[in-house]
Amino acid sequence: MKYKIFKKKKNYYKKNECAIINIYENDKIKKNILKYNLILKEIKKYNFKGKINTHLIIKDINSVKKEDCILIGCGKKKKINKNIFLKIIKNSFKIIKKYNYKNIIYFLNKIKIKKKIYWKIFNIIKIFKKKTYLFDKFKNKKNNKYKDIKINFLVKNKREYILTKKAIKKSLIIFKGIKISKNLCNTPPNICNSTYIYKKINNKIRHPKIKISCLDKKKMSSLGMNAYLSVNKGSYNKPLMIQIKYNNNKNMKPIVIIGKGVTFDTGGISLKTSQNMYKMKYDMSGAASIYGIIYIISKLNIKINLIGILACAENMINGNSNKPGDIIKTLSKKNIEIINTDAEGRLILCDVLTYVEKYDPKFVIDIATLTGSCAIALGNKINGLLSNNKKLSSCLIKSSLEIEENIHELPLFSQYKKYLKSNIADIKNCSNTIYGGTIIAACFLSYFTKKYKWAHIDIAGTAYNNNGSTGQPINIIVQFLINYIKKKWKKII
Ligand code: BES
Ligand code: MN
Ligand code: ZN
Repeated sequence: MKYKIFKKKKNYYKKNECAIINIYENDKIKKNILKYNLILKEIKKYNFKGKINTHLIIKDINSVKKEDCILIGCGKKKKINKNIFLKIIKNSFKIIKKYNYKNIIYFLNKIKIKKKIYWKIFNIIKIFKKKTYLFDKFKNKKNNKYKDIKINFLVKNKREYILTKKAIKKSLIIFKGIKISKNLCNTPPNICNSTYIYKKINNKIRHPKIKISCLDKKKMSSLGMNAYLSVNKGSYNKPLMIQIKYNNNKNMKPIVIIGKGVTFDTGGISLKTSQNMYKMKYDMSGAASIYGIIYIISKLNIKINLIGILACAENMINGNSNKPGDIIKTLSKKNIEIINTDAEGRLILCDVLTYVEKYDPKFVIDIATLTGSCAIALGNKINGLLSNNKKLSSCLIKSSLEIEENIHELPLFSQYKKYLKSNIADIKNCSNTIYGGTIIAACFLSYFTKKYKWAHIDIAGTAYNNNGSTGQPINIIVQFLINYIKKKWKKII
């Protein structure tokens, strides 16, 4: 799909085989709408009312084949709002798809909602990208129906032209970042291991201000990151802690973002059931989101000091695996009793959270498919959020609202730390109760984040669905970081 801007009002039919025209319920159609009489005739003939989710196709409008006009019902003019706008766009996509149109022009000006041009373009591209996403690397027969579709937006003046152009450019960068992150998540676990991720990042992420490095098993071992390493003990694949440093602002302390990158989670000796286990290839979604975020932030050349860490490992089983009952010494020197080897994400994260203290970060955000409980509590459309800093969490929530994506804060009550008391070690890696799993997991992490402001995002419910990876929560974090740099949150956090 290509996105273009159309400046002239006349002659768009020469270039476009189909025009999308918004018709309001019971509205008087203005004369300046193209082919006024013909449209009126057709509307009368078919008794088209302009109700929401309806449409009318007028074929061969210039008596020329393949020059059609789609009238899209927009409902009552007074009731139009952003949600109806999104419905209209989704409806138009269905029609484009069904009738296989290739050159389409939109008249967005006609839809008057209290949103900026950027919002409209961003959301249109978001809908189209979501609907046309295809992961066909492993299909012998490629069938990309949408490749050569051209979407045009009609603008009425220079100002609109510039704003639309900028909006398209920025949105395309954002959705490219989301796409490459989704592709990585969808890649099967026999291919997508830590080393593969490291290579991918080196290929795809390039910027004069970016430095990519990694800590291997030897290095982590010498530092004392035994909790992290213990997760990978049963695997033939190597663990790798990948670091992407993007310093495009010398005047600020770094913001650190960390992603859980378990390329496959069998559960270890505390083995998962086989039903749905194949979905545990998505247990690296947090790390993949860091990849997408840094891709976007660097392509947009945002003036920020950002460190991304992809904590990659594989939770497998062999004679060397972690066992329930094992006690390991973390980088923080705290000893952890492993009650359940399936609570591996926190073992990896706790060492990384300790490791990043050395950066004296402005704040730290970790993103992880950490607990099944989060999916149970919040379902698959709402990200979980827990934080030791109220301002940080509220800024994340505000950013999510701006782009209509969901994140909901759960309380990090230290009360629940009692469930992590161990008889023989400093703490256990999980509790004996199944209740409050997301909060207890965050309580576990909170032992290792005392030195800085921190937010934890649990994406176990949102990172993937039956169609594959979703790219959550990339948009939220990107929006948040851009807001931060625009000084929107700078004074607060
Ligand atoms: N990767 C899983 C969490 C998960 C579960 C993500 C379902 C997506 C869908 C994590 O490593 C895990 O297994 N967590 C356990 C923790 C428990 C043993 C305390 C869980 O949620 O069951
Ligand atoms: Mn697990
Ligand atoms: Zn896991």
